[in-house]
Amino acid sequence: MTALQHVKLGTYYVVHMPEPDDFAFWRERARQLVQCDVPPDRVAWVEPGGNGSLFSHGDKRLPVPEDDKIIRASKRFLSIAKNVCHHSDPERFSLLYAMLWRLQSNPRLMEDKADSQVRRLEDMDKSVRRDAHKMHAFVRFRMVEDDEGNEHYVAWFEPDHHIVRREAGFFVRRFANMHWSILTPRGCIHWDGETLRESGPAQKSDAPQGDPAEDLWRKYYASIFNPARLKIGAMLKEMPRKYWKNMPEAALIPELVAGAQRRESEMVDAGALEFEDRPETLAAIDKAIHACRKCPIGNLDNQAVMGEGPDDAALMIVGEQPGDQEDQAGKPFVGPAGQVLDAALEQAGIERRETYVTNAVKHFKYVQRGKRRLHQSPTAKEIDVCRWWHEAERAIVKPKVVLALGASAARAMLGKTVSISKVRGEPLALDDGSELWVTAHPSYLLRLDGDAKAEQERLFAADLAALKDRLAQLAQ
Ligand code: URA
Repeated sequence: MTALQHVKLGTYYVVHMPEPDDFAFWRERARQLVQCDVPPDRVAWVEPGGNGSLFSHGDKRLPVPEDDKIIRASKRFLSIAKNVCHHSDPERFSLLYAMLWRLQSNPRLMEDKADSQVRRLEDMDKSVRRDAHKMHAFVRFRMVEDDEGNEHYVAWFEPDHHIVRREAGFFVRRFANMHWSILTPRGCIHWDGETLRESGPAQKSDAPQGDPAEDLWRKYYASIFNPARLKIGAMLKEMPRKYWKNMPEAALIPELVAGAQRRESEMVDAGALEFEDRPETLAAIDKAIHACRKCPIGNLDNQAVMGEGPDDAALMIVGEQPGDQEDQAGKPFVGPAGQVLDAALEQAGIERRETYVTNAVKHFKYVQRGKRRLHQSPTAKEIDVCRWWHEAERAIVKPKVVLALGASAARAMLGKTVSISKVRGEPLALDDGSELWVTAHPSYLLRLDGDAKAEQERLFAADLAALKDRLAQLAQ
């Protein structure tokens, strides 16, 4: 008897999902079932912990496909299906299978916005993405000490969907150097600086309820709060009350809203934040910048990018901020601007590996446009707030010469905005006795073409050649 005949006789198949969010497993089983022509109403998808015994009359052995029929699944469907697998709706796997089944005869079905199943899947997709966004934004760690007196950061979060495992990478990247746990009623994740571990569901009472760090957090939030941008409706939408109890700064909201107008005029002073002691090693700076939220850029979906190079380099190069590729790699100047810089350094005879390369601002600032993250320049206030970190790097590396690439880096070094064309080519004195050289940013060269590009490339090369001569002089 073939698999198809089984179906005709009314065989029921039961698929037990090993995990509530296992897209790969769902896809494999769904392909197998479509290949054997098993219609959606003949399959039950059972979640872990779900009641599979309801289907005990069914034939639990899945059929074996007889031939390798091509399965049609549009890219759009697959990208939505990956997210929908994380939704908490117990019907998600059946719904996805029903859609995959229908796509075989109507491959463009996902484009039909009037179709109720398409709409439902799209809503589920959106809801999962939104939940992930909230997890990124609203997880708040509280510090506890473990038995050996080490710092361990613990957060409580209540996701609507099965997103904890899926979002683990984000927190590992962002808090790579901390030891942390995120406890949730849907399972927990733990990071010890090297390994990610999962454990079963937790209760709110398992998480610490507050610590002195919250006062600091509140102080910080009050100082970055921007009264000029106050939109209470948007705030409530973004930060539903459900999350407020986990966020120490939420306690401030009524107070901040009440004082918003008064504070508007004081807004410019918000850069005058209180900082803790300056870290005294590059490793400590690296750790601290990953936890830094002294300006809103650190709240985007990005990771801090630490400077790179010898800790006694004679030359320190300062860029503006990491770009998209630097953010992903966690290293400065590895993308297109980095390639321009590398080529120009080589041409000038300056060894990049003997140079300490860093950025004025440690996190990538961008706006999301579809799948792309478009660079946004940091504001003067954001550059000024981030001075804390590159000054700490400079205090350790003690370069003889600093090269600022572009206007943001020049502002970061001088504390005021200057015109590149006016200050390039001649050294400026810095407070610690070192010299500052300013030139254009390599991304600027990338945006030009024709004669303007050739001219700016010539000026850039000339600046680096002069810098090389100066370094040679200082080395004597
Ligand atoms: N642009 C910068 O200013 N810095 C980088 O690290 C990359 C691009």
